[in-house]
Amino acid sequence: MFFRRLSMIILGIDTSCDDTSAGVVVDGKSVLSNSVHSQVEVHHPHGGVVPELASREHTRNIMPVVEASLSKAGIQLDDLDGIAVTVGPGLVGALLVGLYYAKGLAYVLNIPLAAVNHLEGHILSIFLEEAPPPFPFVALTVSGGHTSLYDVAGYGRYALMGQTLDDAAGEAFDKVAKISGLGYPGGVAIERMAASGACDKVLFPRPCMEKDSLDFSFSGLKTAVALYMKKWREDRKEHDPEISLADIAASFQESVVDVLVHKAMTARRRTGAPSVVIAGGVACNRRLRERFLKAAAQEGVRVYFPRPEYCTDNGAMIAAAGYHQLLRGKTADMSADVRSKFPIDSLPFLD
Ligand code: KG4
Ligand code: ZN
Repeated sequence: MFFRRLSMIILGIDTSCDDTSAGVVVDGKSVLSNSVHSQVEVHHPHGGVVPELASREHTRNIMPVVEASLSKAGIQLDDLDGIAVTVGPGLVGALLVGLYYAKGLAYVLNIPLAAVNHLEGHILSIFLEEAPPPFPFVALTVSGGHTSLYDVAGYGRYALMGQTLDDAAGEAFDKVAKISGLGYPGGVAIERMAASGACDKVLFPRPCMEKDSLDFSFSGLKTAVALYMKKWREDRKEHDPEISLADIAASFQESVVDVLVHKAMTARRRTGAPSVVIAGGVACNRRLRERFLKAAAQEGVRVYFPRPEYCTDNGAMIAAAGYHQLLRGKTADMSADVRSKFPIDSLPFLD
């Protein structure tokens, strides 16, 4: 209906949190460009993302990021067949910047617009890789805002199997890094610190490990680390003198990884799916990758990770998700709005 070519070139835009990102993707899989402007320096002094500042920064950066993405892809605006944009979940003010920019472009260029769920983008980011898994698979989306397990039957067919009851895993990394004085963003800082520590020096809780449920809970673990850290700081010499900050970081990281591996592999066994996909910012973590690869090898199944630049928030994954909507004629109109909460299993099936 809308498309001028057999191949579809889609511009994907994501401004759901603190990265302004745009990517150009052909047919939902071949990435021509993936440009990201990080706001880390703006939020760093505040120890976390400040929503107002994030919106302002997106407004400032959206145009240059989209221009960089088109120029890296070697295309002009006129070459685009559609625009895909994240409409939720995320920070409302931040999402609005991306949505209204995308609406403007789609209107002026007279091309279709796809309203994309950010979590669907994370799940489909694996299709940006050369050898993606066949359906069905179990997906673990593990990021700063989400920790969820899905039974993925096809494009648009995601059944929620479990999710965090409180903090997301990435949020726990960020908070523990803050408590430890390691700064923001926390995941990378903890991983770096943990590299020189021993992961069995402090036994932190493994929340919800023993239960049948596939739900997660990380707030108790965060509190346990905070209490341990307080005691360790106050009474460092007498209290566990041989424990270093690196040991605490490594022990915390191991606790999170243990829970994520255990739950995701349990979910896979329940569905009988032959593979597991791990996506979202925390999937960059090397210890997490190592442990998943080991667990999958033991069970004779496969585990898939997008490369790190497709794990953290990016426009290319949004273009991939938008492609599958536009391919099926599912377009958004100018009344599309953003959603701070947007359960992925509320999406209509696409096939
Ligand atoms: O997917 P993402 O870029 O944004 C959200 O959708 O939230 O994920 C960001 C989260 C942050 O909490 C960050 O600390 C975490 O991913 N993260 C990591 C690592 N790199 C990023 N956590 C653990 N280890 C890492 N290497
Ligand atoms: Zn994300």
